[in-house]
Amino acid sequence: MKRTIIKDTVNHIGSTVTVSGWVHSVRKHGKIAFLDLRDRSGLIQAVDLTGKAVEKVGNEYAVEVTGLIKKRPEKMVNPKIITGTVEMEIRELTVYSKSLEPPFPLDDDGYRINEETRIKYRYLDLRRQRMLDNLLLRSRVTTYIRNYLTGRDFIEVETPILTKTTPEGARDFIVPSRLQPGNFYALPQSPQQYKQLLMVAGLEKYFQIARCFRDEDPRHDRAYGEFTQLDIEMSFVQQEDILNLTEGLFTEMVGKLFPEKHISQKPWPRLAHRDVLKKYGSDKPDLRRDRKDKNELAFAWIIDFPLFKEQSQDDFFYGSGRAKFAPSHHMFTAPHPEDILLLKTDPLKVRGQQHDLVLNGYEVGGGSVRIHEPQIQEQVFDLIGFTKEQKAQFEHLLTAFKYGVPPHGGIAPGIDRFLMTVLGEPSLREVMAFPTLSSGQTSVLDAPSPVTEAQLAELGIAIRAGKKKSKKAHG
Ligand code: AMO
Repeated sequence: MKRTIIKDTVNHIGSTVTVSGWVHSVRKHGKIAFLDLRDRSGLIQAVDLTGKAVEKVGNEYAVEVTGLIKKRPEKMVNPKIITGTVEMEIRELTVYSKSLEPPFPLDDDGYRINEETRIKYRYLDLRRQRMLDNLLLRSRVTTYIRNYLTGRDFIEVETPILTKTTPEGARDFIVPSRLQPGNFYALPQSPQQYKQLLMVAGLEKYFQIARCFRDEDPRHDRAYGEFTQLDIEMSFVQQEDILNLTEGLFTEMVGKLFPEKHISQKPWPRLAHRDVLKKYGSDKPDLRRDRKDKNELAFAWIIDFPLFKEQSQDDFFYGSGRAKFAPSHHMFTAPHPEDILLLKTDPLKVRGQQHDLVLNGYEVGGGSVRIHEPQIQEQVFDLIGFTKEQKAQFEHLLTAFKYGVPPHGGIAPGIDRFLMTVLGEPSLREVMAFPTLSSGQTSVLDAPSPVTEAQLAELGIAIRAGKKKSKKAHG
């Protein structure tokens, strides 16, 4: 029989329909029983007048139910559910599959449940309404972005996941090569170099909903392992164009997808780095007028960052110990044209053409106008203390730039961090389908895990004594 989606049952009063879904709850009242049935679209109350159907089911069983849709009397209407004006009188119930009793309740917000248990049974955790709503909104956000940008002549391009290790800001995840034992790929920390190469290639307007991989210490707003960026790059533009495009996209998207939210200030304020530090003591100030207002979104641009900061221990991948400076954004960021001469005399005074997108106290995006003159790129490499070998790791980019590189720039707002902030969620995990715990353990599949001796041998790899963790090899 044709399946009716639960939310549509209200259009079938007086008819017999078939719904498929899960048993959300069972309540017995003497001989009669009430089953709440759930599919992705919502809940419906089903009445079992005989008490026979209910004998066959338990919570979270996957079932098909055929029954008569009846209008509820006025005083029995339940405004809390989407089908609250009707109920279903069960004629027939088929069990597709049984369910063990879930390890935690699914009908609340889930915040109080132990995180490891939620992650282990993520497929059940995602059955709760809040998580479903978050995934649905995430899908709407990426769809909106795709339509907005392709409608403005942007081309979506996928860039490689197996790529090259380069000192770019965090630790790389590396992947051993079987065909070239002893050599390694790295997973991209962002598609930064590829998007710049795509500008050399003449694509002019690029975007990608891009997965990025960083081995860095996690925080509630910083994922360990992987996260997603809206990666954008444009040619023949100035900083102004990048800011306007991004601001237009986010302002329109918030209006359409989050109509209950209001943006504190339009156009978004553009604030100089030095001024915000002085005024708020932070380069990502929370500019909400009323922090108790859950629906206020205070977007702002922070510009005029210094191109360099003093190098610290955290900058180990640059020329640590050999140089005084590290890039404040990344080493492809162009200096302010008025400050070029200061590169030689007073590098810490040079402003970079960097822009950060700040929202309610979070850095939601970062980007810049890029260096396109090889000699300036070389100067920056020298100032951050790159050795000859380190420079050689970027040879491909410098070579590409010898073939008519257009002036270009871009930005990358974090999709997870944007959603977490807009939805007021306490952690990035609440907007990711299968997140990683801060220990590095993945959802459900419990990676990282050992590999067999045979796999290691083929790669020419031996594990150093003392580095082996006690986890049983699978299979
Ligand atoms: P950046 O490193 O500033 O820039 O990253 C841009 C945005 O990506 C998000 N983000 C993260 N989200 C979750 N977990 C993380 N570990 C994490 N790290 C970063 C943030 C951040 O603002 N290639 C440049 C962009 C460019 O210059 O165009 C880049 O990656 O929201």
